[in-house]
Amino acid sequence: MVGVALPTPVFNESDAASAELVKREFNRVTAENETKWKGVHAGQGFDFSKADQFVEFGERNDMEVHGHTLVWHTDQPRWLFKGEGDKPATREELLDRLKLHIDKVAGRYKGRIAYWDVVNEALEDDGSMRKTEWYTIIGEDYIEQAFTMAAAAAPDAKLVYNDYNLEIPAKRDAAVAIVERLKSKKVRIDAVGIQGHYRTTGDPTIQQVEDAIVAFKDAGMEVLISELDVDPLPFAWDKVGADVNFSVEMKAELDPYTQSFPAEAEEAQAQRYADLFRVFVKHSDAVVAVTFWGVSDGASWLNTWPVRGRTNYPLLFDRQLKPKKAWHAVMAVAAEG
Ligand code: XIL
Repeated sequence: MVGVALPTPVFNESDAASAELVKREFNRVTAENETKWKGVHAGQGFDFSKADQFVEFGERNDMEVHGHTLVWHTDQPRWLFKGEGDKPATREELLDRLKLHIDKVAGRYKGRIAYWDVVNEALEDDGSMRKTEWYTIIGEDYIEQAFTMAAAAAPDAKLVYNDYNLEIPAKRDAAVAIVERLKSKKVRIDAVGIQGHYRTTGDPTIQQVEDAIVAFKDAGMEVLISELDVDPLPFAWDKVGADVNFSVEMKAELDPYTQSFPAEAEEAQAQRYADLFRVFVKHSDAVVAVTFWGVSDGASWLNTWPVRGRTNYPLLFDRQLKPKKAWHAVMAVAAEG
């Protein structure tokens, strides 16, 4: 399955050209934002108008629908972690809110959303637990609590742990440990999502990508490449990954291709995509889906993160929605089988 993350104008078809491209090129969809906490909550209540439109777009076009995400460390309403007065929420309060959220959201799309990212980005790059409010208020068992609630609310959905930098051995091993812990407690987990926010050069190596796929496969998991893009711009910082909490000041040297994408850079990116897809195809018994994080270069989140206002080129389709060298390279690998 080859998927794509959609912003509202694509799934409500006001951006008709992008919607047509999606119908032609992809067979699974993720909502870029509208199934997150911020996407479905209105005040303390719920507003499913956009999430409904998203799911209906997928169904109308016979696509596999991917839910993203039931628990994350960001893009949540402010009241979520607040208790009475100035106090933080208690463990019981937060578990109740989580259960209500999962019952309402995963329950609403029961039998319609095929995969749910139950927990997104619970780990630091060194393999320790990210000290989110979920972790500090509920405790380490918030992960198994969330998976248990999701299994009850959406018994037919495949349940996913999703993260970036899973190619770093310490982080990969910590994710395997999460899988093993859930399995030992008889809590269902079906898949791991490797986000795949890569760059044309630098880490991870293709070998590290393959090692991560194999590690999750050996742990009995399906593997999704869940948010693929290949960023060709100069490194804005010395980190790899996709930590949305970071940002970097704009400098001209970080934004070299404001007018056009040079042929050599496009070729290098196409090679990187081909190398990645060779590994995905090699492990197609485990890698059940690859989803791109955006339809076309102009719509990519990498135009605003980690540096606001750059002109980026990370996807298979350019700003005119034309296939790039990377598209041809991926299709060639697919044809090799
Ligand atoms: C990003 C969206 O693309 C942006 O529109 C939004 O402002 C922030 O989130 N990892 C994830 C995704 O799991 O949800 C993030 O999506 C990108 C990094």
